[in-house]
Amino acid sequence: MTYYLGVDASTTATKALLMDGGGSVVAVGRSDYGFETPRPLWSEQAPHLWWEATVDAISSALRTAGIDGGAVGAVGLTGQMHGLVLLDEAGEVLRPSILWNDQRTQAECDEIRDRIGRRRLINTTGNDALTGFTAPKILWVRNNEPDVFDRVAHILLPKDYVRYRLTGGIAVDRAGASGTLLFDLAKRNWSPEVIEALDIPASVLPPTHEGPEVTGVVTGKAASATGLRRGTPVVAGGGDQAANGVGVGAITPGVVAMSLGTSGVVFTATDRPVIEPEGRLHAFCHAIPDTWHLMGVMLSAAGSFRWFKDALAPDRDFSALEAAASVVDPTSNGLVFLPYLSGERTPHPDPTARGAFVGLTVRHDLGHLARAVMEGVAFGLRDSVELMANDIDLGEVRVSGGGAASELWLRIISDVLDRPVRVVGTAESAAHGAAILAATGVGAFSSVREACESSVEIGEVIEPSGHAEVYQEAYGVYRDLYPDLRRSFQRLSALDD
Ligand code: XUL
Repeated sequence: MTYYLGVDASTTATKALLMDGGGSVVAVGRSDYGFETPRPLWSEQAPHLWWEATVDAISSALRTAGIDGGAVGAVGLTGQMHGLVLLDEAGEVLRPSILWNDQRTQAECDEIRDRIGRRRLINTTGNDALTGFTAPKILWVRNNEPDVFDRVAHILLPKDYVRYRLTGGIAVDRAGASGTLLFDLAKRNWSPEVIEALDIPASVLPPTHEGPEVTGVVTGKAASATGLRRGTPVVAGGGDQAANGVGVGAITPGVVAMSLGTSGVVFTATDRPVIEPEGRLHAFCHAIPDTWHLMGVMLSAAGSFRWFKDALAPDRDFSALEAAASVVDPTSNGLVFLPYLSGERTPHPDPTARGAFVGLTVRHDLGHLARAVMEGVAFGLRDSVELMANDIDLGEVRVSGGGAASELWLRIISDVLDRPVRVVGTAESAAHGAAILAATGVGAFSSVREACESSVEIGEVIEPSGHAEVYQEAYGVYRDLYPDLRRSFQRLSALDD
């Protein structure tokens, strides 16, 4: 039997998932790490952590499955997107990586819009300048650490540093590269126009590859460290959201993949480069040739519920809170929660946005608050779905991530969206997607579509239960609250400084 390995270098851990030739997951190895916040708004990680964790996670997956590394036919890579890794000529790391959730680059985002023009930037790259993206981070290093910038020979994304250590080669997948803000979305390659306007030397950008393309092979040194066979092909893979899209089978336009993790993601594939005119949705390349995707990201989804539990009900477990919420009527007796606990990205790209319970009365108890949090997150997800529905005919919604374990939350989402939803995927859908890309890349499946058909497990359908109308009314209130409160959020953020 030949196996395929997907490696996901995420923000908190590297996961290595082994898939058999039929597409089933046989083992997952995991190795955790932390990230540093040396100053407010900063978020950094040392690249060597990803490599050490990759070695651990692969060894542990092989051990759990009880197979020899020689049985692995190909490796696919995925990982956190947008992070900046800088290498010198000798391949040495020049500074800690600046991560996707770092918010230091507001001035550089303004600089990018000034240099290129906001409209031209959105039309070319599909996206407006956001603090989390890679290009503003490159400018930040140039503006603040010129000595480091002068020594830069290669710019990589986190997963591509793992690729470098595994194969010795410098390369990036097109899904990840399209999240740098330096990419021509339609042409699926670096944009000479944007790169020139930002005065970034083209020579520091790696060659780009479609997700299933082989970019190199495991070196002898990496083989001894990981237990894999020297010469094992390594495919390009994709950024974590695109790979997750593959892992849950969101490869056809209109299938909506919704992930309810700490953050919440709403994702759909497109068969052409579709751009939301104001850049409120992200438009990136998918990990599959000739396919793109639209994506909305809310920063606190299941993270809102975790905050709620930790802050207001530390001694109750999740199921007790879910039970209390389940006996409350839909719309929580006139209570609305705004989930902007870490600022927001879609549809309000605003680091100063803040959370709120609006409409509290003496009749509201913990169950009402719990339900309002679930409903507020569902409204935030609906914001992205509504933006997508302007351009794409949306169909089935596939929910994955930790929050998908709550049946009540799934029912609320189905009612708020007035659409059927299904739970789909494994706990490690991004790593599974990377393994699927690896298997396809070496010909084990004739296409990613065929691979998804035999690999992705789809759960039962949950149908809307007839509360769409009352939720429509509450969603209208939710939609009005951000513009009404924006000024107050800014003033409160200034007080918090
Ligand atoms: C996607 C994004 C996150 C990171 C971290 O745009 O910022 O999903 O990739 O997982």
